[in-house]
Amino acid sequence: MGDYLRNCTERFDLVFSSFALHHLTTEEKGEVFRQVSRSLRPGGVFLLVDVVRHEDESHDAHLQAACDWMRKEWHDFSPEEMATICDHVTGNDLPETVITLARRATAAGLSAPEPVNQYRWLHILAFGKTPGRDAQLSLSYRLSTISTTIRRTMYHSTRSAWRWFTRSR
Ligand SMILES: C[S@@+](CC[C@H](N)C(=O)[O-])C[C@H]1O[C@@H](n2cnc3c(N)ncnc32)[C@H](O)[C@@H]1O
Repeated sequence: MGDYLRNCTERFDLVFSSFALHHLTTEEKGEVFRQVSRSLRPGGVFLLVDVVRHEDESHDAHLQAACDWMRKEWHDFSPEEMATICDHVTGNDLPETVITLARRATAAGLSAPEPVNQYRWLHILAFGKTPGRDAQLSLSYRLSTISTTIRRTMYHSTRSAWRWFTRSR
């Protein structure tokens, strides 16, 4: 997404990212926030659905806890499949805390995130492009003005991953 936006001259009211940012290093996440900020119109919103570490949780403790939770709660996988899933998580996931995401976002010209929803480590966060003509309006209001079509697209693209992650609820 960062590469796409870097070469993109179009400006957007909404940028949406789902379960991908946590694969990037902290520096790379900062670059994504910079490109998102540059690409949003004043008053625009960056909606992020992603894995986020608890503030008091180290990276290693998070990976351990996430794998423990999956092993305990996800009953549809064989031990071999679960080993593959945990290998993928421990080898590829670099989730940040909300505070780190907020620091990187504000350094890039976005607002600190407003929580939209959360289940365990899975967060939906809204970052606003500021300052802008709508900066005085809350992010939830700005989100509520996003067209039904776009919201439906976001819902469908997130639903399968969200259901998969929360299937044990
Ligand atoms: C868990 S999938 C999420 C797919 C989809 N966005 C969704 O929500 O269903 C993670 C995505 O991150 C992408 N990804 C992983 N590492 C990446 C990287 N270093 N740069 C860009 N994309 C990456 C993968 O290609 C994959 O599409």
